Amino acid sequence: MSDRSEFVVVANRLPVDRVVAEDGAASWRRSPGGLVTAIAPVMRSREGAWIGWSGAPDEELEPFVEDGMNLVPVPLSALDVERYYEGFSNATLWPLYHDVIAPPVYERKLWEAYVRVNERFAEAAAQVAAEGAVVWVQDYQLQLVPAMLRKLRPDLRIGFFLHIPFPPLELFWQLPWRRQIIEGLLGADLVGFQRPGAAANFLRLVRRLLDGRTSGQLAFVGDRVVRAAAFPISVDVQELEALVNDPAVRRRSEEIRADLGGAKVLLGVDRLDYTKGITQRLQAFGELFRDGELKPGEAAFVQIATPSRERVEQYRLLRDTIEQQVGRTNGEYSELGVPVINYMHTSYTRDELAALFLAADVMVVTPLRDGMNLVAKEYVACRADHRGSLVLSEFAGAADELKRAYLVNPYDINGLKSTLLEALRAEPAEQARRMRPMRRRVIEHDVDRWAREFLSALEEPQHPDPPSAR
Ligand code: ADP
Ligand code: F6P
Repeated sequence: MSDRSEFVVVANRLPVDRVVAEDGAASWRRSPGGLVTAIAPVMRSREGAWIGWSGAPDEELEPFVEDGMNLVPVPLSALDVERYYEGFSNATLWPLYHDVIAPPVYERKLWEAYVRVNERFAEAAAQVAAEGAVVWVQDYQLQLVPAMLRKLRPDLRIGFFLHIPFPPLELFWQLPWRRQIIEGLLGADLVGFQRPGAAANFLRLVRRLLDGRTSGQLAFVGDRVVRAAAFPISVDVQELEALVNDPAVRRRSEEIRADLGGAKVLLGVDRLDYTKGITQRLQAFGELFRDGELKPGEAAFVQIATPSRERVEQYRLLRDTIEQQVGRTNGEYSELGVPVINYMHTSYTRDELAALFLAADVMVVTPLRDGMNLVAKEYVACRADHRGSLVLSEFAGAADELKRAYLVNPYDINGLKSTLLEALRAEPAEQARRMRPMRRRVIEHDVDRWAREFLSALEEPQHPDPPSAR
């Protein structure tokens, strides 16, 4: 038991992806997305093990240490990747949990792969966890793991956190395997969500689907009590502040502004995902040139989009749509050497991202639905100068906390246009009036506090006596 861990994180991905160059040399690169941004700093500050997939198919790797973290790879075959990861996780659950923005695919063979791979993760966790250990299972790819793991190891304290939205009953009801998912989650002692409404959706499903009893945040399952509550996730403020205080990052930020010829800079930073509202923001921006509200050279949009889930059809379609849209907008409104949209389909380093955040007059975050959206919080954390404006979708979890942002409905293109103009034209005093309370919020509620609050709630004993009636 001695080489087993007292604290175990279980996530679909490891924090690093294995990349093999053309000459066969293998190296590790940071994995995309908000989960890694949030959990990596938590993991570095605690002794523990992180169980996850290396990002490449058919790889059997031994446990290893990277960037101060103990990593335990779980292999996925090419078929697992296709059916469990691209299929059930990202073509079924992802669209279903994001308001059905794209139609979810319901296929039995995808579900079967999801069950099979969840079993593999549960077995890996059961092997790695010490007696009585705390195991923290992450996100929608692994919703069956809590119950599977409890069966294998009833001695463990099991927490689950969902990084993405949890849909209302009216949408969740579509899922042919709805009952199994709720039962899977109920294997945890604590189920965490980004927003209180998501926890309420879950508890309502416990009542309606399983005829379970609930009281406040508690659900009563046999002789066990499960708590469901909101724990809004956050960013590593210290890391970002250190980056923006680095003279090299500041120089780079000035270089970026100079490269853009002194234009006002609007910035978008996202995974290339149809939930992020990238087409809506670019459409609104393009129309401002058509209407004569903006002129080339006066304002430039920088859109950085990390490649994501590229073999899933909806993502391929989105890439084509955005590339056409960028081409058309630039074709119509740019002048020689002065593009109105600068589009980069690539992943950037943290230094380069920090330089971009510092360079941006307006940060444009317009998801159609988002569990939290860490980019919005990262921008605020970087703006110790109290400059810059944040345009933020009402449909991002971050809108609950960043109330002084310019809040928008991204489906309302006219509303988006006028808000972009207002944010672009905001005086420094107005920028500071909005930025100050947002920074206070993010600094006081950083990722370390999020993890401490979740983990201490997980260690608390829950209410012992189930009420006799619902
Ligand atoms: P999601 O988890 O859906 O990807 P979030 O906004 O919560 O969305 O988190 C995205 C994370 O990935 C943030 O930490 C952000 O800085 C990072 N990120 C997004 N786009 C890029 C990019 N092009 N290059 C590098 N990092 C990126
Ligand atoms: O919560 C958002 C999320 O789906 C994470 O689970 C994931 O790590 C990240 O986005 C990136 O997605 P993927 O692992 O599919 O590249």
